[in-house]
Amino acid sequence: MKCANAFFISFCLAILGSMTSTNAQVVVTLQPASNQTISADIYGQFSEHLGRCIYDGIWVGPDSDIPNKNGYRLDVMEALRDLQMPVLRWPGGCFADDYHWMDGIGPKDQRTKICNNNWGGTLEDNSFGTHEFLDFCEMVGTKPYISGNIGSGTPEELAKWVEYMTSNSQSTVVNMRRTNGRNEPWDVRYLGIGNEAWGCGGNMTADYYSDLFRRYATYTRNYNGHLYKVACGGTTGDYGWTEILMRKVGTMMDGYSLHYYTVPQDWNHHGSSTEFDENEYYITLAKALQIEDFIARTIEIMERYDTARHIDLVIDEWGTWYDVEPGTNPGHLYQQATMRDALVAALSFAIFHQYSYRITMANIAQTVNVLQSMILTEGNRMALTPTYHVFKMFKGYQDATWVPTTIENNSYTTLSEGRVPTIAATASTKDGRTYITLINTNLKHLQSVKLQGVQGKVLSAQVLTAKDVHDTNTFDQPNEVEPKEFKGYKQKGGEADRRKGGKADGMKGGEVEVTMPACSIVTITL
Ligand code: AHR
Repeated sequence: MKCANAFFISFCLAILGSMTSTNAQVVVTLQPASNQTISADIYGQFSEHLGRCIYDGIWVGPDSDIPNKNGYRLDVMEALRDLQMPVLRWPGGCFADDYHWMDGIGPKDQRTKICNNNWGGTLEDNSFGTHEFLDFCEMVGTKPYISGNIGSGTPEELAKWVEYMTSNSQSTVVNMRRTNGRNEPWDVRYLGIGNEAWGCGGNMTADYYSDLFRRYATYTRNYNGHLYKVACGGTTGDYGWTEILMRKVGTMMDGYSLHYYTVPQDWNHHGSSTEFDENEYYITLAKALQIEDFIARTIEIMERYDTARHIDLVIDEWGTWYDVEPGTNPGHLYQQATMRDALVAALSFAIFHQYSYRITMANIAQTVNVLQSMILTEGNRMALTPTYHVFKMFKGYQDATWVPTTIENNSYTTLSEGRVPTIAATASTKDGRTYITLINTNLKHLQSVKLQGVQGKVLSAQVLTAKDVHDTNTFDQPNEVEPKEFKGYKQKGGEADRRKGGKADGMKGGEVEVTMPACSIVTITL
């Protein structure tokens, strides 16, 4: 099962395009720009004390041989800076409701050691704590999103954590922060009141959690004037939970969170990250697309209780979840990544953009070495995953205005898990530029696409594809799947014609004909 060969395509695309494409031309039309801003925070990430995400992935300690600055890996920091990661959620996940922040402050040799009971029973020495996380956020230029413990922690503990991080008073807890080396408060805005309260976060009912939310939210004071509190949503498809939260908590919450994982098989046997057949490939995409129904139905309930849209929808965990790589700790959730993951990411972003009138943040799970990660590390080596490259190709969408698109003449792969469109599209505009992304889900065929309603000339175009959909970026071959310049397009009308001496038309209504490689993502900047 081959994705079309990228090298071959770059030379022979024009000749082969019509010969190997089985589907008729798909027409994608750009509509007038909406009034929806795609919040940059939709490109957020999540880093948990799980496996090798924090330790080895982000933090190696100042004495490590791995090049680092004050204990943070230089290669990972650089890669994350390059992405303009807008927000990072920490310390969990399930770990959050077992985490006691006081264990992770003060002299390292005096920090409490605990057993990470959620994730493989690994010893957690708390060498990466509040200071290490918040300083890291400042160094990479990202906003911190703290996930608070309400499962095993008291309201007093969470209240004091918020005070420690954000207050500038002379209280004992704030002076403790100063003694530990930080004079000014950090700019912490986002605060999760628990995590998956229906499961690892305390196995609560929605009624009980609503009351608890109100209680913890009361004592976590708004010292910096913009503390933003996020409530846990229910498990996938539990709309009753949403009803109860909207009714009982209402606008005491600023954000309501959903988690959605794409699992090709089931929770006992997730399926391999690299060995899958064509059927499982399409099932994975179909399941990833099911998030739209979950989002739409949740929003429908939110709209009934909150017509003024005071409460945002926050997808603070999402991504693919496969079986762990053979030979690795089952509790560490280490998986490889292929073009399949890249397509899941791109299709998910297209959905998040569409619902960006309510979705203001999303955090992929997770940043390094866990689930659908951006980055993999091994010793002093690093590989960027195809998902990383999608985030990079989509950088232009951060804080851009959503441009709706319509698609005609599309074809579909139909399965019991849902329909996978051959072509998906998303677009936006910002600072006079338009960004258009086309996604060809078809594993075997090139697809001709006519883009209509295009204004301006193509400035650049990039493609992400692979010789084979199973290809991965390994430590030995880290550049197997990465974006390349894309030349498989022809611009007609609009600016292109005017430049050839044609009639000036105010750059309106041009067309771009694109020949999409099989299993590919193309981003065009106008
Ligand atoms: O991301 C891994 C885990 O998945 C998180 O800890 C938990 O919140 C979810 O179930």
